[in-house]
Amino acid sequence: VSKYTRYAIIGTGNVGSALAVLFAHAGIDVSIANTRGPETIRPLADTLGRAVRPATVQEALKSDVIIMAIGFGAVAQFGSLLPDWHDKIVVDTSNAHWTPGWEQMVNGRPSAQYTAEQVPGARVVKSFNQLPANVLASRVDPAVGKRVVFVSSDSPDASQEIAALVTELGFSAVELGRTDEGGLLIQTPNALVLRQFIELPFR
Ligand SMILES: NC(=O)c1ccc[n+]([C@@H]2O[C@H](COP(=O)([O-])OP(=O)(O)OC[C@H]3O[C@@H](n4cnc5c(N)ncnc54)[C@H](OP(=O)(O)O)[C@@H]3O)[C@@H](O)[C@H]2O)c1
Repeated sequence: VSKYTRYAIIGTGNVGSALAVLFAHAGIDVSIANTRGPETIRPLADTLGRAVRPATVQEALKSDVIIMAIGFGAVAQFGSLLPDWHDKIVVDTSNAHWTPGWEQMVNGRPSAQYTAEQVPGARVVKSFNQLPANVLASRVDPAVGKRVVFVSSDSPDASQEIAALVTELGFSAVELGRTDEGGLLIQTPNALVLRQFIELPFR
């Protein structure tokens, strides 16, 4: 993870808050925003220390890597927040499956490809969607191993970059390749969703 990369989390619900905890524990600076403004995030940030900085959505959007921790139904509106997403990596944590009308929205494509259409120019990486947020944030005894978090993207570079972030956050990152190949395994309700994997220590 480059110290020059700026990270943001947009969304402060279950997933956004869990990720904020993980960034704080790893000591990686991140700004975090929701629709209601930075002051609503201060109580959370105050419990997490200096790494987690409440921001407006517009401030958060200046980051290089934007973790989108919002409902799938809000992705189109999210996409309209910037006219041009070039040079951004958008991490898609959403699960389309529970959104009314999702099948018409994705129209047979991987949901991450729908997301990519909403943020034209961005490199989209699907990750952090396959486990409940409280499980994602819960500690695994290092003697037992490291929790696996899967990563998928149509951009090999972006996949690698987010796999490095996932590793820095304390996980075992497993890259699944393209969103229409290995990535389909982490699209709800497919095989790797709601299944916990642990990488065992090498002895
Ligand atoms: N819950 C889980 O355990 C879990 C696990 C894996 C994946 N997921 C997926 O992760 C996503 C988030 O789930 P969640 O449970 O964290 O949702 P949530 O608790 O409902 O939180 C959603 C957050 O998104 C923010 N938001 C919505 N639209 C926005 C917009 N246009 N711009 C900026 N912020 C916006 C909301 O802002 P306000 O606070 O201002 O309303 C809220 O903070 C969903 O797609 C879900 O399918 C959830």
